[in-house]
Amino acid sequence: MEIPISLDLDSRQSLQAQLYEQIRKLILGGRLKPGTPLPASRVLAGQLGVSRNTVMLAYERLSAEGYLQTREAIGTYVSFELPEDCLNAKRLASAAEACVQDFPTRRKIAFEGRPQAVVNHRHLAYDFWLGRPDPHSFPIKAWRRLINRTLVTAGTRLTEYRDPAGLIDLRKAIADHIGPARGINVDPDQIIIVAGCQEGLNLTARLLLREGMSVAIENPAYQGAAYLYESYRARLMPVCVDESGLCVEDLPEEGAALLYVTPSHQYPMGFTLSLERRLRLLDWAWRTGTYIVEDDYDSDFRYRGSPIPALMGLDSHGCVIYLGTFSKSIGAGLRIGYLVVPKHLAGPARTAKALLDNGHPWLEQAVLAEFLAGGGYDNHLRRIRQSYAERRDCLADCLKRHFGEVVISGAECGMHIAWHLGEELPRAAELQAMAAEHGVGVYTLQSGAACDFGGCAYSERAIMLGFSSLNERQVRTGIERVAAAVDAARSPSYAAAKLHSPPPSVSRSCPGLPLAGS
Ligand SMILES: Cc1ncc(COP(=O)(O)O)c(C=O)c1O
Repeated sequence: MEIPISLDLDSRQSLQAQLYEQIRKLILGGRLKPGTPLPASRVLAGQLGVSRNTVMLAYERLSAEGYLQTREAIGTYVSFELPEDCLNAKRLASAAEACVQDFPTRRKIAFEGRPQAVVNHRHLAYDFWLGRPDPHSFPIKAWRRLINRTLVTAGTRLTEYRDPAGLIDLRKAIADHIGPARGINVDPDQIIIVAGCQEGLNLTARLLLREGMSVAIENPAYQGAAYLYESYRARLMPVCVDESGLCVEDLPEEGAALLYVTPSHQYPMGFTLSLERRLRLLDWAWRTGTYIVEDDYDSDFRYRGSPIPALMGLDSHGCVIYLGTFSKSIGAGLRIGYLVVPKHLAGPARTAKALLDNGHPWLEQAVLAEFLAGGGYDNHLRRIRQSYAERRDCLADCLKRHFGEVVISGAECGMHIAWHLGEELPRAAELQAMAAEHGVGVYTLQSGAACDFGGCAYSERAIMLGFSSLNERQVRTGIERVAAAVDAARSPSYAAAKLHSPPPSVSRSCPGLPLAGS
């Protein structure tokens, strides 16, 4: 066995003393356990490039102090009974360890936060988890071809620092995309490439927030935003949503440092912010000096009607910061999104990005730029939009078939719907638990990566169903099983068992807000 020893030939300490000290430390630190054989003196001398005598003298001293024992035919090994001295030394070592453990209680880290639940750790056979693209949809062939081609032309671009705002070709391609698609006409200089919406949210918070500042936010809201602002110790001011999106009349009269909003497909309820409310919202932002952070995470999937222009496209005062992502349309593992800022924020945003990470990896940006500019992205979107529309229709049909005239919201756009449970059905938390027992994942607001601040009309009776990652067969079986779970729960034996178990925890609800029609 080789033991990890390194001797310093230039040290003023003798080689023998160094060897003694290092073996002793290995024993006291527990790396050489009692009974562990040590290499023969000749072998260790060869390993270390020292004379055999040096090793023998060190072994002799360690034996004399009780750390080592030697037996004929067995050789030298670590003593089973360590001497009293060693125990004292061990005590000292454990006291030092206790100091290390004690350190965190004396020194607080500045960061406090909780992570958003975007990763699903459950392994259910039929999982209607939200915001997950079809696992087979990644354009792997095109990507492989583009990576190979891009690498050939990389030059120094992989070895040099680049513009922290991102590759100009990609920013141009994004500007060309969001012009017609979202009605946003911007200069590529206003675009910063980021690692998904989440980094964009962080950058905007860095630009606009300090501890104690107020943030107006939808209720319920996307956890990734709510928990982020919380970690900045901002004062969160939840504002209810209804079937026309954010209730603009409930916004604080005095304004806020920023407002976070998901106008295309409210997360999680799926409502679309009406044009009339968009205009009133922009007016409020302008009057109160509030920046609006518009998270447009899944607007590439619009199935019905023409899209309402993004808030940023309607804004003439420079109040809106827009966030887009390729996490939903291509894949979350890619970690590419973009922040579009008003002209006056372009400089500070670029600096904040530079300070954060010096810019996004070049290769992915270059490949994505080609994919967008060459028309690959449009073709890809057309294909998956069609397939998601079929899955969504299948889901709506299955719900109708098993549960009658159901009320759903959010079906015009995106990758999930909200199912508003009628009084004849169990509440959302109960339904989620019953479905899970039948191998199906369906989600309440809070468990579906949303933050329910309480006082929300949808807390108890909204179930979130993501449809994009399940094929139609899986959708059908999943909903069949949910129906079977509900039927089983209506059986007298189940009801009797339930009488003896505590009710599932549900959040407070405020009645009176209308539910959306399908
Ligand atoms: C509303 C909303 N915004 C942003 C994101 C995350 O986007 P990204 O992966 O780009 O950080 C999600 C993810 O589910 C989301 O639901």
